Amino acid sequence: MSALEDIRDIMQGWFEDCACESAKQLGAPHSGKMLRSKLILAIAPENEQTKRLCAVIELIQNASLLHDDVIDEASMRRGQPSLNATAGARNAIMMGDLLYAKAFYELTRLGDEIARIVSEAVVHLSNGEVADVCYAGKLYDNELHYLQVVYDKTASLLRASSHAAAILAGLDTQALASYGENLGMAFQIVDDVLDIMQDSTKLGKNALHDFKEGKCTLPYIYLFQKLDSAQKQVLQSLIGRDLDAGEQQWLLDNLRDSGAIEQAIAKAREYGDFALQSIQHIQNAKLKEIVAQMIEREF
Ligand code: FPP
Ligand code: MG
Repeated sequence: MSALEDIRDIMQGWFEDCACESAKQLGAPHSGKMLRSKLILAIAPENEQTKRLCAVIELIQNASLLHDDVIDEASMRRGQPSLNATAGARNAIMMGDLLYAKAFYELTRLGDEIARIVSEAVVHLSNGEVADVCYAGKLYDNELHYLQVVYDKTASLLRASSHAAAILAGLDTQALASYGENLGMAFQIVDDVLDIMQDSTKLGKNALHDFKEGKCTLPYIYLFQKLDSAQKQVLQSLIGRDLDAGEQQWLLDNLRDSGAIEQAIAKAREYGDFALQSIQHIQNAKLKEIVAQMIEREF
C-alpha cells in the first residue's frame, strides 16, 4: 500500500465512529491531489508520525476548502459538485468544523513545536480568507497586498508543512520552511493564472471564476496597472459579476495583449527559483521536481 493510501486510511479511521455517514467518507474521496502530503513525504521519513502530520494537514486543507466553498458559493470543487452544492451550506460548515476539530486533536499528538507551527499557519489561513472577502469586488493595483493574502491563504500552510516535516526529519528547518513558503507563493500564483487560461473541464471549477467572484488576482493587478483611466472603469464595471461573451472576450484579449499573464507567470517562476535557492545545500531531487511540476503545470 502506498503512503498516500495509508494517509487516506488514517483519515478515514479517525471518523469511523462518527455519527454521520457522510463524515466517514470525507477523508479519502475528498483528499484531492494531496500535494501537501507529497511535500511532507519528500522531506520526512515514511513513518507513523510523518503520516499523522500528513493526515492533519490534509484535514485542515479540506476543512478550509469546505468553508471556502460556502463563503464563495462555489458549485464545483476538484471536478465534482462541492459539498455545499450537494448537501447544503449548513452541512458543509459542520463537516468543515468536524474535520478541523479532529485535525487539531491529532495535531496535539505531534508535540508542542509542530502544534505551534501548524496552528499559527491556520491563523494566517483564516486571516487570508477574511482579507479575500473584505476586498471582494474591488480592483486594486497593490501587488504587495495580493502577495500578503497569497502568503496567508496558501503559502503559510505549505511553509508549516515543510517546516514540520523538517523537524521530524532532523533537517535544516529554516531552509525547508523557506522552500515551502516560496513553493506555496508560486503555487497560488500559478493557480490564479490557470483560473484565466484553462477551461472549466480541466480546472474542475469554472474558468474566470476568480474575477466573476470579485477577486483581483495578480494578472488583473498587472492589467489594471497598464490600462488608461477609461479602460480601468470598464474593468471595474466587470468585476464581481457574470460576463457575457463579448465582455469575457474583451477581458481575455486585454489580459493577453497587455502582457499581464506573462508577467504573472514570471512572478511565479521567481518564487520557484527562491524555493530552489533555499535548498541549494540539500540533496533532494524530489523537492526540485515538485517545484518544476508546480510551475509548469498546463502552461
Ligand atoms: C481557497 O482560496 C481558500 C483557502 C486556501 C483558505 C480558506 C480558509 C478558510 C476558509 C479559513 C480557515 C478555516 C478552517 C476551517 C481551517 P480560493 O477561494 O482563492 O481558491 P479556490 O479557487 O480553490 O476556491
Ligand atoms: Mg474559493
